[in-house]
Amino acid sequence: MTNLSGKSVLLIIGGGIAAYKSLELIRLLRGKGCAVNAIMTRAAEEFVTPLSVACLTGRKVHNALFNLTDEIEMGHIELSRSADLLVVAPATADLLAKMATGQADDLASTALLATDKAVVVAPAMNVRMWTHAATQRNVETLRRDAIQIVGPNEGEMACGEFGPGRMAEPIEIAAAIEAALTPAVLPLSGKKVLITAGPTREPIDPVRFISNHSSGKQGYALAEAAVAMGAETVLVSGPVNLPLPPGAQVMPVESAEQMLKACEGELPCDIAIFAAAVADWRVANAAAEKIKKDNGRIPALAMVENPDILKTIAQRKDKRPAIVVGFAAETERVAEHAREKLARKGCDMIIANDVSATTGVFGGDNNKVHVITPLGAEIWPEMSKRDVARKLMEKLAHELAIRQAKS
Ligand SMILES: Cc1cc2nc3c(=O)[nH]c(=O)nc-3n(C[C@H](O)[C@H](O)[C@H](O)COP(=O)(O)O)c2cc1C
Repeated sequence: MTNLSGKSVLLIIGGGIAAYKSLELIRLLRGKGCAVNAIMTRAAEEFVTPLSVACLTGRKVHNALFNLTDEIEMGHIELSRSADLLVVAPATADLLAKMATGQADDLASTALLATDKAVVVAPAMNVRMWTHAATQRNVETLRRDAIQIVGPNEGEMACGEFGPGRMAEPIEIAAAIEAALTPAVLPLSGKKVLITAGPTREPIDPVRFISNHSSGKQGYALAEAAVAMGAETVLVSGPVNLPLPPGAQVMPVESAEQMLKACEGELPCDIAIFAAAVADWRVANAAAEKIKKDNGRIPALAMVENPDILKTIAQRKDKRPAIVVGFAAETERVAEHAREKLARKGCDMIIANDVSATTGVFGGDNNKVHVITPLGAEIWPEMSKRDVARKLMEKLAHELAIRQAKS
């Protein structure tokens, strides 16, 4: 049994000399229990016959976009949809250009544009075509689009020249397909991460509130990083103007009390990161109706302390997350205040950042943090909030693995 067994691959054969090798690729894939549907470009049919491809795949070969019978039997979109992966072999310079620019003027390019599945391409062409700036630009674009490129290899070419341009061997392409279809074991797979982000809003009356400048960017970046590392990610978010991080379960809240309730409802979890800028106080008796102006009389707002979300969760007797991390926004003596906070709250780590006006941290895209644990402090250089998030999630995943191995 391999990872290819029971899978289905849509093979797109482009018009190059290496098309003959795609026949061997079909044999290899089918030998591993993988079904192969094939699309041949018009040019590909000059190099290998649809009859050979049909005999080896055991299926009808698709070649025309506007074919009534094909469309009724299996629509052009269905061809990509029913496959687990698309592979282009050989990928001509022309097909790479079409993919990079999103063209869809034949069945092959349309199927490639109409897919959200993994795509592996095996370029094959004359060395000058491969090294041409236009092809290299296209390949770069495809890499950025998460298309996996296998080869080309270096060697003697059919045109008599030597250099990179030979299509990767079928066995290498099959291995790349198998790797692409093998689910990666991500460091936080099976773990649950709870993150808070953004400011809270504490009502004064139905139209006014007390809040702060938190943009939520750091917390949202953390949620993005946790999802990318395979965690079940819950993001409890105060009001922010940010796109929702795909893959995270977002729970919108307004006040600190709502935020605490939402967090407690998400326990147990493995890691909890409190990046929200929670208001320390709220108005004791928020008015049920809008407070009216009253001949120059200023309303007196009695304040009460909000629940301390970080401390409450960190000091729970039951369902305490294995790792509790707090963020500390400080405007002076950042590290010193963070160390005090670590001890006072009973959490495992404090990420302290300097939010004084000159740093641009509030609302900005960069952050410079101190990472404080009971074992000591690290000062990370200034980097994007996304990079802070990735680096921090990696550190936490590592720490969690150690703790869970010990327990
Ligand atoms: C004999 C011959 C061999 C060719 N070999 C290649 C090749 O290896 N790679 C390539 O990118 N183009 C090659 N071409 C050019 C393509 O066939 C041509 O760009 C065609 O339009 C590609 O169509 P397709 O991308 O739809 O398959 C070759 C052309 C000829 C006549």
